[in-house]
Amino acid sequence: MSYLETQFGLAGHKAVITGGGGAICGAIAEGFLRAGASVALWGRHMSVLEEKKAVLPFQERITLQEVDLSDEEAVKSALAETGDCDILVNGVGGSSCRMPLVEADVADFEAVVRQNLVAGCFLPTRIFARMWIEKEIPGCILNIASMGSYNPLSGAWAYSAAKAAVMNQTMAHARELAPYGIRVNAIAPGFFLGKQNRKLLVQDDGTPTERGARVLKHTPAGRFGEVAELAPAAVFLCSGGAGFVTGVTLPVDGGYLTDNI
Ligand SMILES: NC(=O)c1ccc[n+]([C@@H]2O[C@H](COP(=O)([O-])OP(=O)(O)OC[C@H]3O[C@@H](n4cnc5c(N)ncnc54)[C@H](O)[C@@H]3O)[C@@H](O)[C@H]2O)c1
Repeated sequence: MSYLETQFGLAGHKAVITGGGGAICGAIAEGFLRAGASVALWGRHMSVLEEKKAVLPFQERITLQEVDLSDEEAVKSALAETGDCDILVNGVGGSSCRMPLVEADVADFEAVVRQNLVAGCFLPTRIFARMWIEKEIPGCILNIASMGSYNPLSGAWAYSAAKAAVMNQTMAHARELAPYGIRVNAIAPGFFLGKQNRKLLVQDDGTPTERGARVLKHTPAGRFGEVAELAPAAVFLCSGGAGFVTGVTLPVDGGYLTDNI
């Protein structure tokens, strides 16, 4: 095997990718497949997962699982059906709600926190970690943080709070699970055109919205990210080459976090 295969190859590994029908997690799935892993795409709608599988390579290494990640019993059953695996990508998340603080509704706030922090991090992590500890599997978890983890995104009250907590939990879970050989890291995407935020960032004719233009002005690379640019960072953090890396959140953001004055 070459140095790159030994250090960064994922042959022999099996990854569960939640929100696997989405833009970012579909790209991560493609990276994992090209690095040699098997992947189980988990998501709410089988039709969305089937559409994603159809455009991915190495389809013989892909399985699909319809499951609501906010439902604890459903997650346990899905894991039993999927069988042994050693990588979990917590990809469920998102929110297109933007509003003034004084108009924010408590039920909406709780729903977004539940999607991003509970379904998108805490609940699957707890269930997978318990299984890995029992079976003595040295698993690896990848969370998806956000630029909102560092500084709040205007009007995205619950999303920013939840993503800040995802970064915090990445460190907390890493420390708690390290004695079992389980690593926990995160990537923090800058601004990528996913299904949910596309409308916020670009107009139908492809030109940036007012918000999109402000993002671009704040991004030294001067463009939105291509989702395929997230996959190598995800592969690295889940590979043997990152065996001594745990508790970190890696920004993939075109320099967004470096921009001050
Ligand atoms: N797009 C961006 O620019 C960006 C930036 C930073 C972080 N992120 C994060 O990356 C992750 C993926 O984002 P994306 O833009 O690819 O989103 P997306 O909307 O394209 O994909 C999310 C997927 O998760 C599924 N899903 C949502 N709730 C679920 C649940 N409870 N159970 C099962 N499946 C569920 C949806 O059906 C969808 O297929 C999210 O955590 C998001 O917050 C995205």
